[in-house]
Amino acid sequence: MNDKNHSIDVLISEQELQEVVQKLAKEIYRDFNNQEIILVGVLDGSFAVLADLAKQLHKLGMDKIVIDFMGIDTYGSGTKSSKEPRITKDLKHDIKGKVVVIVEDIVDTGYSLSVLQAMLSARLPQKLATLSLLSKDERREIEVPVEYIGKHIPNVFVVGYGLDFDGKYYRELPYIGVVKFK
Ligand code: XMP
Ligand code: MG
Repeated sequence: MNDKNHSIDVLISEQELQEVVQKLAKEIYRDFNNQEIILVGVLDGSFAVLADLAKQLHKLGMDKIVIDFMGIDTYGSGTKSSKEPRITKDLKHDIKGKVVVIVEDIVDTGYSLSVLQAMLSARLPQKLATLSLLSKDERREIEVPVEYIGKHIPNVFVVGYGLDFDGKYYRELPYIGVVKFK
């Protein structure tokens, strides 16, 4: 990116990310081995963790994995939102009676996730669990169940491995970095 007024410090290296995702995959395997599971990636940021997680689950021997995506526009965060959340991309699969694991990049206030969990539970899955690569615990405004958390991070703005800067850049970074403005 040209014309930089910022730099990026590595917070979680590529190597550490792989270890974190492996740990998450083992937890999913422990709980759902031999069952069909639908992994629901939340667009756009979850693509990196979802891809690596699915490959790790395959290596552990899970072979009934369905991958689906959901896009949801919650109009920012916080409880002040008065507008209805809007689905920008719906699931291809019917999740009624199925085991579903939501795959998120990061949980911040918890607002987006609480909306998504409510929408998906209304479709009556047999089980609905949530995995998030990262969690900013101190920012939480709404209690949301997140059964699988990769790593707890402080309240800093992070980019990379799916997470964007300014709605566009840095999703391709193989590590998680912290943006520092000059
Ligand atoms: P809430 O507050 O609803 O928000 O839990 C979760 C969503 O907010 C975005 N988010 C971030 N995106 N770096 C990002 O690139 C961050 O540090 C960050 N914190 C929150 C993200 O879209 C997430 O799904
Ligand atoms: Mg997101």
